[in-house]
Amino acid sequence: MGKVYYVSKNVGLGMLVLAVAALATIIALSIAYDKERAKNRGKPGDEATDSTSMPPPPTTPFIPKEPWDHYRLPDSLVPLSYNVTLWPRLEPDARGMFVFTGHSAVVFRCVKETDLIIIHSNKLNLTTFYGHHAKLTGLGKATVPTIQKSWLVVKTEYLVLQLHSRLAVGSLYLLYTEFLGELADDLQGFYRSEYIEDGVKKVVATSQMQATYARKTFPCFDEPAMKAVFNVIIIHDRATVALSNDSVIDGVPVSVTTFEPTERMSTYLLAFIVSDFLSNSLQVRIWARRKAIADRQGDYALSVTGPILQFYEHYYNATYPLSKSDQIALPDFNAGAMENWGLITYRETALLYDPMLSSTGNKERVTTVISHELAHMWFGNLVTLQWWNDLWLNEGFASYVEYLGADYAEPTWNIKDQIILSDVHKVFAVDALASSHPLSRREEEVNNPAEISEMFNTISYSKVRSSDRISYLNTFAFNNTVYTDLWDHLQKAVENTPGMHIPHTVHNIMNHWTLQMGFPVVTIDTRTGSITQKHFLLDPDSVVDRPSQFNYTWFVPIKWMKTGVEQQQYWLLQKTGMAIDWVLANTNVSGYFRVNYDLYNWDRLLSLLSTNHQENGPREAQIIDDTFNLARAKIISTTLALRTTKYLSKERDYIPWDSALRNLDYYILMFDRTEVYGALQAYLKKQIQPLFEHFKTITANWTKVPTKHTDQYNQINAVGYACGMGVEGCRELIKSWYRQWMENPHHNPIHPNLKSTVYCSAIAFGGVEEWDFAWRMFKNATLASEASRLRAAMSCTKAPWLLNRYLEYTLDPTKIRKQDATSTIQYVARNIVGMPLAWNFVRARWGYIFQQYGKGSFSFSNLINGITKRFSSEFELQELKKFKEENLHVGFGSATLALEQAIEKTTANIKWVTENKAHVLKWFTEESK
Ligand SMILES: *[C@@H]1O[C@H](CO)[C@@H](O)[C@H](O)[C@H]1NC(C)=O
Ligand SMILES: *[C@@H]1O[C@H](CO)[C@@H](O)[C@H](O)[C@H]1NC(C)=O
Ligand SMILES: *[C@@H]1O[C@H](CO)[C@@H](O)[C@H](O)[C@H]1NC(C)=O
Ligand SMILES: *[C@@H]1O[C@H](CO)[C@@H](O)[C@H](O)[C@H]1NC(C)=O
Ligand SMILES: *[C@@H]1O[C@H](CO)[C@@H](O)[C@H](O)[C@H]1NC(C)=O
Ligand SMILES: *[C@@H]1O[C@H](CO)[C@@H](O)[C@H](O)[C@H]1NC(C)=O
Ligand SMILES: [Zn+2]
Repeated sequence: MGKVYYVSKNVGLGMLVLAVAALATIIALSIAYDKERAKNRGKPGDEATDSTSMPPPPTTPFIPKEPWDHYRLPDSLVPLSYNVTLWPRLEPDARGMFVFTGHSAVVFRCVKETDLIIIHSNKLNLTTFYGHHAKLTGLGKATVPTIQKSWLVVKTEYLVLQLHSRLAVGSLYLLYTEFLGELADDLQGFYRSEYIEDGVKKVVATSQMQATYARKTFPCFDEPAMKAVFNVIIIHDRATVALSNDSVIDGVPVSVTTFEPTERMSTYLLAFIVSDFLSNSLQVRIWARRKAIADRQGDYALSVTGPILQFYEHYYNATYPLSKSDQIALPDFNAGAMENWGLITYRETALLYDPMLSSTGNKERVTTVISHELAHMWFGNLVTLQWWNDLWLNEGFASYVEYLGADYAEPTWNIKDQIILSDVHKVFAVDALASSHPLSRREEEVNNPAEISEMFNTISYSKVRSSDRISYLNTFAFNNTVYTDLWDHLQKAVENTPGMHIPHTVHNIMNHWTLQMGFPVVTIDTRTGSITQKHFLLDPDSVVDRPSQFNYTWFVPIKWMKTGVEQQQYWLLQKTGMAIDWVLANTNVSGYFRVNYDLYNWDRLLSLLSTNHQENGPREAQIIDDTFNLARAKIISTTLALRTTKYLSKERDYIPWDSALRNLDYYILMFDRTEVYGALQAYLKKQIQPLFEHFKTITANWTKVPTKHTDQYNQINAVGYACGMGVEGCRELIKSWYRQWMENPHHNPIHPNLKSTVYCSAIAFGGVEEWDFAWRMFKNATLASEASRLRAAMSCTKAPWLLNRYLEYTLDPTKIRKQDATSTIQYVARNIVGMPLAWNFVRARWGYIFQQYGKGSFSFSNLINGITKRFSSEFELQELKKFKEENLHVGFGSATLALEQAIEKTTANIKWVTENKAHVLKWFTEESK
């Protein structure tokens, strides 16, 4: 308990500082104004194709449209409860189709007079009663209007009932529907997942409702603020088990499972599952395929869930809101995981862990994903955002506290240091583009399902992190909020904290960070003491056509050190002189900004790196990452950035190495098709060789595993890059391991941590024999993370015919699962030989790929990102633009913004390569001598 107290108190204060300090993003200029607009008219559907566009200017004539043409529900009806019965068929019908049937009764209150009932319904065949798609009855004394006509609106996904007379304000009504839907393999709504166990094909009925797929399961008011209580009944075969959000009520016939009524909750958090899975305990349960449970792959997840739940109960000061917690691993699942209340769904790789076969990285992923999803049980589920434009708050908060929960469960991992690497630096990269967007958008800017999907992009997940929690959760439990409610609570917390000083109100400080995109670069001149800020853009010549009311300035909280000593926090906007001697600002990257200095200070920081190496990984990583990005933005010279890597031959710590390698990856991508590559390779070989030797020694010739968590990661980098750069002995080592495995497939001698790297290198240096062996092992793998490593490794071959064959496999769901298709194409594109093949493949079949894999899919935008990463020539830019034009009629869905960013990044790459190629070649040539 002492430990818990320690963590929550300090982190609590830290978070307060962070929150107030400004790591956020968000929404509208005036929430009141905004909500009025959204209510009264909403955004006309036709204009809603580009979610990044600004609201139409006031001169645009307002074209009245029917209420059912709006993507947002009218505010006249409010649901209270649903009784939903679902019957999925796990066998195909006579047509060979998998279906489900069901009926639903929703009780709603009329809060504004209306003669229309508009409720979401998508892809459901509704039974008609006297010619209408639903039955309407009244509760209590209300006289019930009769239905004049009913119809479905495909575009906005509504069932509309026109009544003969009006519903009475304050009265309750009941709408009954019966429906038939397809239990398709489309990973959306109520869908089916298939797998083979002991030679038998098995089918699971499962669901993914977020963001807009509950309406594909039963007619419902499918918006997050339309919370209601759900009474669920699932009809199923006796040999299977049914799961939903709440506990099972006892004493019912085996094949009809009735669930306790849920708490008041949003439709997008519902879940329904029928399977023959097993679980490994009682109230906190991990479910998976029978074989996976028998192999105890769920044990690790179970062992961390309890502690993490306890941690959050303490952290949020609120007990877990439900009577049970189920987590289930599904063979087919589109996202990584989904925080359905009480029944969390996962990809197998995010929940299952095998101590013999899984790597440290797999284990960390399981811990952090579980921690993330459990954080949502309170923040997101108990208190829910009003609308999807506030998604940043939901995801940002969970992405932050997941590290706290995971750190509690695995205290030896130093997991908080990795926030910098995996989250902060990642968002820096996206948010430094002129085509980025403020995290906060108006409600009316996020309307149709594709736009909602796009809100789940990197920025929403990582840019935000923090808030005050206790009064906030208590005030809004079982209810919805907008982000400004949180600022109000934070403001109170600040006022109640003695000694806490902030330069302005929380609202004002946060608005600078949420209402405008991007972040600043802070420049410190240690000779004059001046400190200035400027909008950081990766391409300084790009045009920002998105005006900002704050003129791209921020309240910047600067934590800094002088001559190695931590100083009091400094708020930029109140300029003062700073004493001389070397300065390092933004210590531990606690602020969302980059830092630049005068050359004199840079020189001293660099010489400290090499002479007085401090073993402070996050700090060194920050210097490396800042210099490389400042150089990309032409604020400092490329040579200065490259100089930060010179000390690495002495570095043994993971955090700075990983930062350097990520940044050098950009050089590799830009130059691996040019003459620069030879010199780059020679330099990197020289730098990485000592690290490779170091690991060889501490692992006793590769027979042991380093004990420290981050050393294990660093070993993976060392081996991977050493082989890539041609360090002596590396390739032979790897080939011999893989050979041994091929000779005895039942005994894999490769340590799980090194498998990804070894498989990839062995297949890259091998031929069809190595590839086909990997394919066989992939097909036989019983552990999802093993299958996933092999799937990535098969993209490493250098043989074009193997790569093309593999690309063909990606569109055949019997070979590569649908959930894995786009990421497999991306893997191929990462390979220098595979890149043009993948690009041709995607261009040739865009219509089909988009139709099959693109609609509302979570990770679809990564496909465009992945393929265009190397693009750096005028020719490639023209091809990209042509691709955009030629496919306008097909569309790009949630990849729309990614395509814009790809064009912007390619343009920047072309300029960068032109300007830097000669210096870079010269520098690497000289330094590799
Ligand atoms: C819904 O189900 C509950 C629990 O079984 C029952 O008490 C209630 O009468 C049902 N309501 C409707 C409208 O069918
Ligand atoms: C719904 O009805 C349409 C038209 O009759 C039919 O083509 C479709 O297969 C039906 N859906 C299901 C799941 O049976
Ligand atoms: C909330 O905090 C109070 C006061 O510190 C404590 O007594 C209570 O046990 C806490 N509740 C939970 C659920 O942690
Ligand atoms: C939800 O919050 C709103 C706004 O604070 C409040 O008016 C409403 O009564 C709350 N509803 C419930 C069910 O707590
Ligand atoms: C906005 O910033 C630019 C460049 O820093 C400056 O020239 C301009 O005067 C500023 N405008 C306002 C209204 O502050
Ligand atoms: C590692 O192998 C080398 C030669 O293969 C040998 O000289 C050395 O003693 C070995 N080291 C350990 C720790 O086994
Ligand atoms: Zn989340």
